[in-house]
Amino acid sequence: MNITIRPATIDDMPSVLEIVNHEILHSTAIWDYDIRTLEQQIIILKEKQEKKFPFIVAEKDNKIVGFGTYGSFRFKVGYKFTVEHSVYVHKDFHGNGIGKLLLLELITLAKTQKLHTMIGVIDSENESSITFHEKFGFKTVGIIKESGFKFDRWLDSVFMQLLLE
Ligand SMILES: CC(C)(COP(=O)(O)OP(=O)(O)OC[C@H]1O[C@@H](n2cnc3c(N)ncnc32)[C@H](O)[C@@H]1OP(=O)(O)O)[C@@H](O)C(=O)NCCC(=O)NCCS
Repeated sequence: MNITIRPATIDDMPSVLEIVNHEILHSTAIWDYDIRTLEQQIIILKEKQEKKFPFIVAEKDNKIVGFGTYGSFRFKVGYKFTVEHSVYVHKDFHGNGIGKLLLLELITLAKTQKLHTMIGVIDSENESSITFHEKFGFKTVGIIKESGFKFDRWLDSVFMQLLLE
């Protein structure tokens, strides 16, 4: 599969929105209840760009099939070498190595930016994402029980960490 990984542009945001809104409506991978608007998604992209955080997309045959990004983990200045990332692949393209390309690129960019550690905050029911992250050396460092609520049930968040240096 011929996949290009590149920085996202505003023109990619409708495709990103399609991917993320599917997960909002149908999964606990993301703990939003309401779908995002294009305007909200563009604001998210612009904020990442202003803060010099990456927002990358995976493109196949002129179609956006996944995206990845990271941003501040927490807002106090002492957390400045830690980022929280996310990777999403279009539901029709899972299992083709696209998530891998996106996460490897985010790890490379984080190292280039001299960051120290990356954190993924993952719903404990999302076994695919937990296994996926383990493949890249992320370790489960904590589980916060019943920290989320969606689809009428409590959800646990699994914190997975990769030390970069
Ligand atoms: C998790 C996700 C990003 C993985 O992306 P993907 O493109 O399907 O994964 P890849 O094909 O690149 O797989 C990379 C590795 O992870 C493993 N993996 C991926 N999905 C897996 C699954 N469901 N079960 C077991 N292993 C899995 C693959 O076996 C592969 O390992 P290998 O390199 O040893 O063969 C994708 O399933 C997704 O977007 N899910 C919905 C959104 C989501 O949950 N995002 C993460 C939020 S924290």
